[in-house]
Amino acid sequence: MNASGGARDRARWLRGEIEAHNRAYYELDAPTVSDAAFDALFRELRELEAAHPGLMTPDSPTQRVGGKPLEQFAPVAHAVPMLSIQTETEHDASGAQHFDARVRRELSLADDLADVAYAAELKFDGLAVSLRFEHGLFTQGATRGDGVTGEDVTQNLKTIRDIPLRLAGMPPPLLEVRGEVYMCRDALAHYNEKARARGEKPLVNPRNGAAGSIRQLDPSIAASRPLRFFAYGIGAVEGWSLPATHSELLDALAAFGLPVCAHRIVARGWRELADFHDLIGKERPRIPFDIDGVVYKVDSLALQNSLGFRSREPRWAVAHKYPAEEARTVVMAIDVQVGRTGALTPVAKLQPVFVGGVTVSNATLHNEEEVRRKDVRVGDTVIVRRAGDVIPEVVATVAELRPMKSAEGDFLDRVPCHPPFELPVTCPQCGSHVVREEGGIVARCSGGLVCPAQARGALLHFASRRAMDIEGLGDKLVDQLIASGQVKTPADLYALTSSMLASLERMGEKSAENLIHSIKKSCDTSLARFIFALGIRNVGESTAKELARCFGSLSALQNASAAALEEIPDVGPVVAKSIVDFFAETHNREEIARLVEAGVRWEEHEGVASAATGRFAGKTFVLTGTLPSLKREDAKELIEAAGGKVSGSVSKKTSYVIAGEEAGSKLDRARELGIAILDEAGLLQLLRGDDS
Ligand code: IVH
Repeated sequence: MNASGGARDRARWLRGEIEAHNRAYYELDAPTVSDAAFDALFRELRELEAAHPGLMTPDSPTQRVGGKPLEQFAPVAHAVPMLSIQTETEHDASGAQHFDARVRRELSLADDLADVAYAAELKFDGLAVSLRFEHGLFTQGATRGDGVTGEDVTQNLKTIRDIPLRLAGMPPPLLEVRGEVYMCRDALAHYNEKARARGEKPLVNPRNGAAGSIRQLDPSIAASRPLRFFAYGIGAVEGWSLPATHSELLDALAAFGLPVCAHRIVARGWRELADFHDLIGKERPRIPFDIDGVVYKVDSLALQNSLGFRSREPRWAVAHKYPAEEARTVVMAIDVQVGRTGALTPVAKLQPVFVGGVTVSNATLHNEEEVRRKDVRVGDTVIVRRAGDVIPEVVATVAELRPMKSAEGDFLDRVPCHPPFELPVTCPQCGSHVVREEGGIVARCSGGLVCPAQARGALLHFASRRAMDIEGLGDKLVDQLIASGQVKTPADLYALTSSMLASLERMGEKSAENLIHSIKKSCDTSLARFIFALGIRNVGESTAKELARCFGSLSALQNASAAALEEIPDVGPVVAKSIVDFFAETHNREEIARLVEAGVRWEEHEGVASAATGRFAGKTFVLTGTLPSLKREDAKELIEAAGGKVSGSVSKKTSYVIAGEEAGSKLDRARELGIAILDEAGLLQLLRGDDS
């Protein structure tokens, strides 16, 4: 065997290998070699083909990578025009019924004649293209254009692995395949994640992604996008005797190695069409790509012929749509909702819009980071999506439609009318501080005990068996108590009287008394139960027991620094931060004081963890002037509770001076000595241990 024979064999072997690995990777989603090994095979083939141009084949996998960017797309005249399709306006069964009635009328079928057979398939929401195969070889691909003339996008289409460069079996001398380029939602999300990491603009949705990619002059862009293809019909054909039906035609295309979607049936009569429409409608959220309806086609090609066309639409096909999952509307405001666990969610208040089958006036923006990333602002025109039962969300803003105004002092400089969104620093429901979790992404209200948004959860948890064990206080009763306004926080429970309870619906005298009794009984508890009952985030029953054992008293726990907390086995930085945040919140401390005042008590003991590790241990404070919200005694208590000392005069030993309105000589003295001066907010920040 001579050298070029060896090279030819090697090239053939390499192509076979590369294609097999490609199939494993793209179709079976089960890679068989590492990326590096695959790249090595690919590189070897490309080098071999470059060295021996005679070895190049048009269906070689190296041909998918695409050539140089084009100047412009060449026009392609469609030998058989690419038609559009009529749409039934009704979203219910009548859509199928109307189409079937029209077909029967046009075919002059009497009512008692057999049902017409239809091919029912999905209406893919992508971009229509036509693929030309000559003697099985993919030679040209075009967009639909105006239906008569499209654009030559062969380079881009060759990058799509679903499209065979050579058909399998015994393809005819000429076959034009019509179908849709689309993207799977998951693949798009994955692509967008990587695009964002590279600092590129993400794709708005699969359809725009598919259409936009195919219309790029540089084929390397299409190659980088997760494009897919489904065949759903044919154009010009030569030298092939067509099967008798559309469904068999699709079977034949599949046998040529073309991807044909499996979600298709042959249906008889309109009822089976309507059932298909229903079934696919239910499946829609689970179908990995977007569809905007189903398509019905008269199955018999002979009947299709006799039905013919009306202007640019065939009489033998119809699209039966679903309510659109995406729509445009305007953001009127951005509200912040507090969930049952205290998580803050920005929500766009929208000009009501019909999407996904319902009128939507609120859409979630998930979290602050998402709002920033999408840069959604009041006044923006946005794309809203509601798919299946999923909560409506804002997908993207339409940048061109953002309201702008002249910049101050320079009327030619246009700036957005509204600033970027920012989450509030205090809870809109209860005014407690907002704290950050999970790398700063989740913002949460720290007023777990006092926040009305969290009241239901907090009360149920407080009363639960392993917490304060208030027998008979279940979710229905908690709802009633909240609704009646009698109970807002756990301490309110201890102020309930049987006559107050008697006013509640379905509350007999006996059960009212029983409840009062079990509330009273819960007063005698243990420190561990009480700590658990507070519902501190990330503090479960066993952590609560550990905390009670190690600190021995509630005040020792309240004053513990994050560092001291982390000494406890089981307590890491996240749990420690939750505890510190909880006790730093004045509202929570006040609620605890109310509970103690109401008679809740437990045994305390000398802790094994040291209270001297309190946040303010060894620090001396001087208070001067009037603070905006804290009384002098409150501030003193807070400082002392954190292990600090409060002194009456400023000296070199003073660590901080806390100054309010009308602070006098002490403030001057502090300035002289260069001592740190804080206002009330600064003190609270220091207490929370957030030094920023
Ligand atoms: S058949 C004879 N089948 O819908 C009608 N079209 O207006 C020719 N489409 O953008 C089209 N899924 O790309 C047909 N299963 C399907 C389809 C489908 C989506 C698109 C097509 C074109 C529009 C037709």
